[in-house]
Amino acid sequence: MINEYEIKKEICDIGKRIYNRGMVAANDGNISVKLNDHEFLCTPTGVSKGFMTPEFICKVDENGKVIQANKGFKPSSEIKMHMRVYKERPDVKSVVHAHPMYATAFAIAGIPLTQPIMPEAVITLGCVPIAEYGTPSTEEIPDAVSKHLQYFDAVLLENHGALAYADSLLAAYHKMESVEFYAQLLFLSRQLGGPKELSKEQVERLYEIRRQFGMTGKHPANVCVNAKNGKPSCHSCGACGSKSSCNADEEDVVATITRKVMKELGL
Ligand code: 13P
Repeated sequence: MINEYEIKKEICDIGKRIYNRGMVAANDGNISVKLNDHEFLCTPTGVSKGFMTPEFICKVDENGKVIQANKGFKPSSEIKMHMRVYKERPDVKSVVHAHPMYATAFAIAGIPLTQPIMPEAVITLGCVPIAEYGTPSTEEIPDAVSKHLQYFDAVLLENHGALAYADSLLAAYHKMESVEFYAQLLFLSRQLGGPKELSKEQVERLYEIRRQFGMTGKHPANVCVNAKNGKPSCHSCGACGSKSSCNADEEDVVATITRKVMKELGL
């Protein structure tokens, strides 16, 4: 098993990558890794994530309370957001938050990344919804993100940035890179007269490939209520286009209420 110091070094490497790729400015962004159910490593607040050494990295418990931090370092101000992801997604081992230029521009414009424009984005991300705006460091952001956690592995944070999570630190970082690449392509193709979207059939075939590969994580190919019912899903169902995600539970509640009303009316 990889030791804690090595994981701290890996967090610093990923910090350099997000900084050097312009996914964060100054002291922005934060990264965490789950060691076990009660111990998590996270970046400290208020430092440039591009210039960290392992001594910077803090250790917290599942409530975000400090277990170990070197003098002068305190856990990220967004630790509650990270902890909510771990709490509600036991499969997640790492969370990366950044402010990549294009993805954040979409988050500011209030436009979710839902247009199916290239196979890789459809297969790896599906759609990227927007979690409604919350004040940084409060429970508002975790609450907003929570609504999407069971359906997506990346979300835009309204007027703020992006959040990606996966079963390893590298995978969470790669997901963030994919979100930004997708956002950039979407932006550029909109400048060129608008993207030529993949058809519903092409999207369905890509979803099928994802299912066949047995790819882990949450994705519209597996959890979209329409896909569950054997209908064209997510990219074409329109639910991702709204700020609320494709929510199977909500759909089930609506179906249950409709059934009850119809029964009452004797229909
Ligand atoms: P921290 O330095 O406290 O992690 O905050 C950076 C940030 O990007 C807040 O959204």
